[in-house]
Amino acid sequence: MKTPSMKDFLVAPSLLAANFKNLESEMEMFNTSEADMLHFDVMDGRFVPNISFGLPICQTIRALTDKPIDVHLMIVEPEKYLKAFKEAGATSISVHIETCPHLHKTVGEIKEMGCLVGVAINPHTSVDLLIPILPDIDFVNVMTVNPGFGGQKFIEASLDKIKKLRQLANELNPDLGIEVDGGVDLSNIEKIRAAGANIFVAGSAVFKAENPHNVIKQLKYSQ
Ligand code: DX5
Ligand code: ZN
Repeated sequence: MKTPSMKDFLVAPSLLAANFKNLESEMEMFNTSEADMLHFDVMDGRFVPNISFGLPICQTIRALTDKPIDVHLMIVEPEKYLKAFKEAGATSISVHIETCPHLHKTVGEIKEMGCLVGVAINPHTSVDLLIPILPDIDFVNVMTVNPGFGGQKFIEASLDKIKKLRQLANELNPDLGIEVDGGVDLSNIEKIRAAGANIFVAGSAVFKAENPHNVIKQLKYSQ
């Protein structure tokens, strides 16, 4: 498996919106599409008010694709599960700044394992808090909905945050990837890209579409 470059334009369909009854055919759709990696949302019912899926499903998915798996840990004490997710097949792992009192240490542990490392921030969290860690990470996951559920509406104020983050990245880490997660679809992709984001997570927009391949292509190449 090729490690993705997080500064490229990447589309990451979010498994959360897939039809779990037909996981194999959903993965077949993903594999035969132009999607770059699979976004894998782990929720614990503590940091976020919902529970999703965890290690066994990650292992199952790993066996069903050669593409990268981008694990988004919406859980308290994520440092306890890093190794397990790496072993279950994670290519990149993002942890929330809101759950990591020892962020620098946690980021170091993810890197040492050989995973790409991201830091996710909630809609109310200021991008300024990322300044000290920006030089050490591969990407930021800017949450553009309150984490916990798929299918929510994109929060417009996020666009200014993305712009500000891109400016900070130009100074502190020009290779930084900016991932957007939540409510991304064909109606807002152009604004999101223009603001400076380059990694597009999309759950409902892809898996609930009549023609997911087409949506993935449009997300990837829209200007
Ligand atoms: C939300 C998750 C997202 C979610 C996106 O808490 O982190 O990754 O799956 O789903 P959509 O694209 O439907 O908003
Ligand atoms: Zn996510």
